[in-house]
Amino acid sequence: MSNTITEKKNAALKAVEQVQSGMILGLGTGSTAYFAIEAIGEQWQAGTLTDIQAIPTSEATAKQASSYGIPLLELADVDRIDLTIDGADEFDPQLRLIKGGGGALFREKLVAFASDKMLIISDASKEVQYLGAFPLPVEVLPKAIRLVQRVLTEKNCQPVLRKQKDGSPYLTDNQNYILDCHLGKIDNPEQLDLMLHLVPGIVETGLFLGLATQVIVGQGDDVKVFE
Ligand code: 5RP
Repeated sequence: MSNTITEKKNAALKAVEQVQSGMILGLGTGSTAYFAIEAIGEQWQAGTLTDIQAIPTSEATAKQASSYGIPLLELADVDRIDLTIDGADEFDPQLRLIKGGGGALFREKLVAFASDKMLIISDASKEVQYLGAFPLPVEVLPKAIRLVQRVLTEKNCQPVLRKQKDGSPYLTDNQNYILDCHLGKIDNPEQLDLMLHLVPGIVETGLFLGLATQVIVGQGDDVKVFE
């Protein structure tokens, strides 16, 4: 197993230690969250974890969780979620995140916001001093794509429409587009997020601010926990 994969798996297994029977869980999306869902699924099938229900953040996660027979809920069915485990594309020392590399940012943010605890699991490469080297994903209503692209270009966000291999626009699970904003270094994530939310047509941003309660990072064979 490569170092990065080992780090992702170790972080995921550490986070799953906090999962208890009876919980309503939020299940994230991506290659790191995959290992957490796998571990939860195995414990569910072994009967060591009972009476859990889960809200998936993407169709891919719903499919993986269903393959273990984990009972699924819609976010609309619950007032709150006990614990969510998800990955991230970047995290800074204040546990602010960029997410959405996998395109699931909107549902991920809804689930994170509804969660009492949000555990981020990561390999060591995602730790940064400043957010922004990873292009910030912004989910946009298709109708508004040209308007939003123009506004974000004028604001120096360098938006690039995410595309599929065949050149057609990438569509999220909500049938929206994604603009990846090449910002380099984000000086003030809170201010940027407010500005983006004022542009009509932007559905959600990949900035997750004040939402992560812990970041659990695989580092070589060790695991480090940031609170
Ligand atoms: C998906 C996400 C993922 O959590 C993020 O892209 C990290 O993915 P991975 O664990 O595969 O590196 O935000 O929308």
